[in-house]
Amino acid sequence: MTNLPNNKFDVCVVGLGYVGLTLATALASAGLRVAGSERSQDVVDLIASGQSPFHEFGLDEAIQAVVSRGKLVPFALEDGTPVADSYVITVGTPVKNGSVYLEDLKSAVSAVADVMPDGALTVLRSTVRVGTTRTIAEPILKDSGKKYAVAMAPERTIEGKALAELSSLPQIVGGIDENSTQLASELFARLGVEIVPVHSAEAAELAKLASNTFRDVSFAFANELAYFADQSGVDVYDVVRACNYGYDRMNVALPGPVAGPCLEKDAYILSNSADVLGVEVPLAMQGRKTNEFIVSHVVNSLLPDMNSHTPKVSILGLAFKGRPATSDTRGSLAGDFAQAMKSKYSVADVSGWDPLVSVTDAQKMGILFDELEECLNSDVVLIQTNHRFFSSEEFYSAIERNEQSGRVFVDLWNQLDAERITSIGNRLIPLGRKIIDVKDALV
Ligand SMILES: NC(=O)c1ccc[n+]([C@@H]2O[C@H](COP(=O)([O-])OP(=O)(O)OC[C@H]3O[C@@H](n4cnc5c(N)ncnc54)[C@H](O)[C@@H]3O)[C@@H](O)[C@H]2O)c1
Repeated sequence: MTNLPNNKFDVCVVGLGYVGLTLATALASAGLRVAGSERSQDVVDLIASGQSPFHEFGLDEAIQAVVSRGKLVPFALEDGTPVADSYVITVGTPVKNGSVYLEDLKSAVSAVADVMPDGALTVLRSTVRVGTTRTIAEPILKDSGKKYAVAMAPERTIEGKALAELSSLPQIVGGIDENSTQLASELFARLGVEIVPVHSAEAAELAKLASNTFRDVSFAFANELAYFADQSGVDVYDVVRACNYGYDRMNVALPGPVAGPCLEKDAYILSNSADVLGVEVPLAMQGRKTNEFIVSHVVNSLLPDMNSHTPKVSILGLAFKGRPATSDTRGSLAGDFAQAMKSKYSVADVSGWDPLVSVTDAQKMGILFDELEECLNSDVVLIQTNHRFFSSEEFYSAIERNEQSGRVFVDLWNQLDAERITSIGNRLIPLGRKIIDVKDALV
């Protein structure tokens, strides 16, 4: 039996994950009557009860406000897709075996095509291969025999600050024709943001891929410097500070693991787009490979050998990033580090702890979630994210309470105070500033 109402919504967001739920909530907060269509009944039930299925700053309160006023209504996909003036598609587009998977997107567009009123707008917001709006979405809408408009409006917010950025970041919009760009611009203008129209849907698709690949490559350059620094004894933090100081033309990033559901895949989607044209994007792909290399670099060059006994090892910070804080483990390198540590030290288990990640998500990465105190009771402790907790007094107190000395802390974000760690008999190895004699390494 369907729960769908007879009256039309202003907009229906299809796929209530990180992108869809934050957008649906922001549009509802801006006064639109929003329907959400979601495949998972559990997610629908949680949202209907006023809760977010994931940690995102301010989202629980915002959902409660819009759900209780009937401004945001979630529906399970099996109940059918609600009728609305506009649709925004926010389903996942993961990369599988190097290629972007678009089947969820195609079925979401088909479901929209079946129910949309004549002339409705459909906006793709998922990250897609260049050409997807025109060559995949448009033909499905056209086959419905109805009038349609279709555009791409990429999501560029950062997890952890998504609600604030949805109402402040300029929104890029590109339609398959002028009417589509105009309608999509009017929809997103309701968020109170500046609209950046581009001349085609393809330009909007490429702008999204370009934004993430640019960041990926910038971070890869920082990591490449760190790999050099770790072999040479030069301190990469010293170098980056000196390069950037008072020199407007420089903005070199600092090193660290680059992961997450976007950066881990968008260079591949750009590469897929180039494949269609028979060209290559070697810089983008090299950036990705350089960032993926961090796991073997850390495990082979920074983690100490422990030949005397089988060590206890742990990872602190299991989400894909620490700032802004998130509970999201998609694309996190914590699981890759755990695998590599198991094999390096011939241990069955790697323990782990995180301020926000759930026990279940840790288990999915092959990590034994444990108390912080227990993790600190290890021979080797890898600090994997830059969550603020790992530079807090509370964290130092926990380290100091545990009287074990001779522990090795491997700090991938240069957050730990060397004096405080070493003064109680522990060793600190930060990424990019490994203490070796520069003169010995470079002669
Ligand atoms: N996570 C981010 O911060 C971010 C940022 C920019 C862009 N993106 C892009 O946005 C898209 C969505 O990302 P996400 O992180 O929100 O993904 P997600 O996996 O968290 O959410 C997708 C949701 O869509 C639902 N779904 C799948 N098929 C459906 C269908 N046919 N009908 C209804 N619901 C369906 C899933 O159950 C899931 O809840 C991806 O293309 C991603 O690359 C994500």
